[in-house]
Amino acid sequence: MGKKNKKLNSMLILAIETSCDDTGAAILKVSGSTKTPSFEILANTTSSQDEIHSPFGGIVPNLACRAHEENLPPVIYSTLTKAKDKLKIDIKTLIKKIDFIAVTSGPGLSPSLLMGVSAAKTLAFSWKKKIVPTNHLVAHIYANFLENQKIKFPALALIVSGGHTQLVLMKKRLDFKTIGKTRDDAAGETFDKAARILEIGYPGGPAIAKRAKRGNPTAFNLPRPMLNTENYDFSFSGLKTAILYLVKSLGKLSEKQKDDLCASIQEAIVEVLVTKTMRAAEKYKVKSIILGGGVAANEKLVSEMKKATKKMDTAFYCPKKSFCTDNAQMIAVASYYLKNKAVSWKKIKVDANWKI
Ligand code: KG4
Ligand code: ZN
Repeated sequence: MGKKNKKLNSMLILAIETSCDDTGAAILKVSGSTKTPSFEILANTTSSQDEIHSPFGGIVPNLACRAHEENLPPVIYSTLTKAKDKLKIDIKTLIKKIDFIAVTSGPGLSPSLLMGVSAAKTLAFSWKKKIVPTNHLVAHIYANFLENQKIKFPALALIVSGGHTQLVLMKKRLDFKTIGKTRDDAAGETFDKAARILEIGYPGGPAIAKRAKRGNPTAFNLPRPMLNTENYDFSFSGLKTAILYLVKSLGKLSEKQKDDLCASIQEAIVEVLVTKTMRAAEKYKVKSIILGGGVAANEKLVSEMKKATKKMDTAFYCPKKSFCTDNAQMIAVASYYLKNKAVSWKKIKVDANWKI
């Protein structure tokens, strides 16, 4: 093993994620070598709040915060229990073996973030551990490294979630340059708002994707905002307004019309995302395209990206579905790369608008 590729002492990380409406904890084991670390998820728990927010068709921050407060202790406890059982050790020994705690400290909803950060601080204080404050968007990108160590740079990451739509150029690991982002609504937000207009449930992305499978994507002609602009920015609020007016003009919708609307909405969002990503990939001559965030769980988006990248000499990566939507495993992987930024519990702060 070369000088720059040192063997790692095996390492354990406890990660906590509460940036939005999922309460997550995970324990990651890292071994292998510095250049090609190998990751093993020893335990992962995600508690979804979909049922709480569903009647409102979107996230209610106060309710999210209360649910995190209630869910964090059992989620963390069950994660520790699963990990100690897997390692066949007792919980005290497991706690001793944990090298550091990683927590999402931004961006996200302040009340939600504060819950996870407070839990991390309490544990770090009583267990005498350091904390790695981890950026949620960086973690969405690094979810790809959980299963894939060989991603070549320069890489272009498309982060598509409920709160973000962002194209990030990476010349190397941990080198982020945002080259485009949404000027208004995020892609996931557009799925959620469209589903609310169609009254088909929350979260909107999976609900629309399910109906889209049965629908005709060319049934309705919807706008593709900023598709042909020179820059790499996005805008989805015009699409949302067009959906609203279209649905109003159609009156009571049949199930077939709803399916066709879902397929047409998905088609419009996917076309904009793929076209702009591919244009940026060509301009910056990237070797890899990486997807991340909840909307990366969309099968149509993934298949269109695959098709588009096949025509180029560019590798395409997308995490498996459970790594796309919010989870603590991705926080753990990102924190491994950020471990030099570990701080004392006294120094950690929430930054709800943390940019990369
Ligand atoms: O990354 P994420 O779990 O949370 C945020 O950081 O925002 O993303 C949540 C978003 C929601 O807007 C949800 O509707 C969307 O991801 N989403 C999907 C799919 N699964 C989740 N959008 C489209 N197709 C899906 N299959
Ligand atoms: Zn997210």
